[in-house]
Amino acid sequence: MTSTLRTALLGTAFGLLMAAAGPLLGPLAGPAAAATIKVGVVAPFSGPFALVGKTFKEAIEVYQAQHGDKVGDDTVVFIYKDLDQANPAQSKALSQELIVKEKVGYLAGYYFTPDALAVAPLIDEANIPCVIFNAATSAITEKSPRYVRTSFTLWQNTVPLAEHMAKQGIRKVVSAVSDYGPGIDGETAFKTTFEKNGGTVVDTIRMPLKSTDFAPFMQRIRDSGAEAIYAFLPAGPTTLAFAKAFADNGLKDAGIKFFGPGDLTQEPDLPTLGDAALGITTSFNYSRAHDSALNKTFLAKHKEMFGSTDSVTFSSVGAYDGVHVIYQMIKNTGGKSDGAKAVDSVKGMSWESPRGPLTIDPQSRHVTQTIYLRTVEKVDGKLENVEKVAFEKQPDYGYKVGK
Ligand code: PHB
Repeated sequence: MTSTLRTALLGTAFGLLMAAAGPLLGPLAGPAAAATIKVGVVAPFSGPFALVGKTFKEAIEVYQAQHGDKVGDDTVVFIYKDLDQANPAQSKALSQELIVKEKVGYLAGYYFTPDALAVAPLIDEANIPCVIFNAATSAITEKSPRYVRTSFTLWQNTVPLAEHMAKQGIRKVVSAVSDYGPGIDGETAFKTTFEKNGGTVVDTIRMPLKSTDFAPFMQRIRDSGAEAIYAFLPAGPTTLAFAKAFADNGLKDAGIKFFGPGDLTQEPDLPTLGDAALGITTSFNYSRAHDSALNKTFLAKHKEMFGSTDSVTFSSVGAYDGVHVIYQMIKNTGGKSDGAKAVDSVKGMSWESPRGPLTIDPQSRHVTQTIYLRTVEKVDGKLENVEKVAFEKQPDYGYKVGK
């Protein structure tokens, strides 16, 4: 017997012995035992924003159907907690429960900015990464080194839009935003960029987050004498009511041009908005109509699993790419729970997403990505955000602004 063969046989025998003894010796012996790694997802699954939770969950399931539920020997499971509206105290309580009772190794989700901000002390204390699938105020990732974000920021979407509007020769614009983190970021990003490029913001309107009656704001927009509007509201019943009010109050017919980040024309709302949405120009990181092989594969799998792609929108890819990052963190740390190491391991990571190329900026821990200028048009009788211009490699322009 050659010595190599002898070693191989001995190795095999040792391997078999260890495999048999494994359950008796416990996890200290041999290679690390297979584990279940839990990811807690906090999002709205009920109430007016329930669509968000649905898009997150569906995207997670599509990702796991395509890539499996295992990373190495470890099985990844998702545990969902319903947070029906912006409620930071409840966000903190649910996240704490996930950490303490469920022993999750990762937190994820978070639609509204205040809910994401509320968990900063928890993730630092527990040394757990938090992968934000949506909340879009720039300052969030400055509050803890354990945040990573796979969505977008208002600064990121607004800077190229404001530059484009100025280039189109638009000079007088009114800004109308929801009065909280992302709205204020949007207003600041718009005013700074648009005025630097020769335009004037004639009025800045901040609307309470819970507004449902937009008629008084429409009057103010009309009175401002602006030729166009820049608007941000969190996507959902809010944006739907605002865009309808814009048409119903005659601003569209008066020729006022309507611009904003793509939250305003999210795909699931387009059938309800109907022709009122035609011609609205937005800037965003994802359109369901994005023409790429990867997006087609993503949509086909979604359709196969859920029967339609009607619910697919920006929050779907925020979650889909978020799961990709979590899988990489688990892989890079060999399944060990060390939040700081896991986050460090994905700094600078690049990959191709259904929305286009993404890179995690090592400083901001936010994705650098292509932002598209889109116009709502009818494609085969269906309203879609049709991409017109691509602004590549857009960073979070709002990271540490003024610091
Ligand atoms: C946020 O609260 O950060 C937020 C919510 C909904 C959006 C965008 C941003 O569509």
